[in-house]
Amino acid sequence: MKPVRIAPSLLAADFGRLAEQVAKVEPHVDWLHLDVMDGHFVPNISFGMPVISSLRPETELYFDCHLMITNPAAYLDDLAEAGANLVTVHIEAVPDPAATAEKARGLGLDFGLVINPATPLRAVTPFLDLCDVLVIMSVEPGFGGQAFMPEALPKLIAAREWVESNDLPVDIQIDGGITTETAPRARAAGANVFVAGTSIFGAPDPAAAADDLRRAIEEI
Ligand code: DX5
Ligand code: ZN
Repeated sequence: MKPVRIAPSLLAADFGRLAEQVAKVEPHVDWLHLDVMDGHFVPNISFGMPVISSLRPETELYFDCHLMITNPAAYLDDLAEAGANLVTVHIEAVPDPAATAEKARGLGLDFGLVINPATPLRAVTPFLDLCDVLVIMSVEPGFGGQAFMPEALPKLIAAREWVESNDLPVDIQIDGGITTETAPRARAAGANVFVAGTSIFGAPDPAAAADDLRRAIEEI
């Protein structure tokens, strides 16, 4: 399996002190998960390019941009310019993602697909050879702080089996409700990238919370 990566979600950080909060967790984590929402694909609005570009000079972390937006292809140039490293796009928004993947790669971005809890894995399997990352949602997208949906576990198992049997170099990310209790279950089912908002930035000591999460995952 690919290496464990901890990706705190900025959505749960204090938006008045973003750079400071990112600096505190940086030595303890691997990626920074940036949830971009448009109020259309999901019923919430978060942040976009100005926040990403303002944070870019503040950290060396790999920017994992989760695009919960209806028309991601239209924003890829701006995201690349803002400093994104990876863009992940919902298959529910882009049912045929080949052109979007190609555009992202042309801009030097890594590319991934995301599936919602209600979407079957078979919606993305034809496109996994285009992907660096597959993201399995374990909550409905749009809001932090929701409970982990255990239905994600069989999907993780099937995704890991697919990736391994087809020899694809794809990271499998789990997003939503990840804690020291749910992360080891997701790891056992096949995830290697763990997004955690509330359980890291919502903790009194986010750096210690990130260490606790990694320890819980590595103990299994
Ligand atoms: C939900 C986002 C998640 C969210 C996770 O739409 O995709 O990344 O920030 O938050 P927690 O960890 O609080 O479930
Ligand atoms: Zn996310």
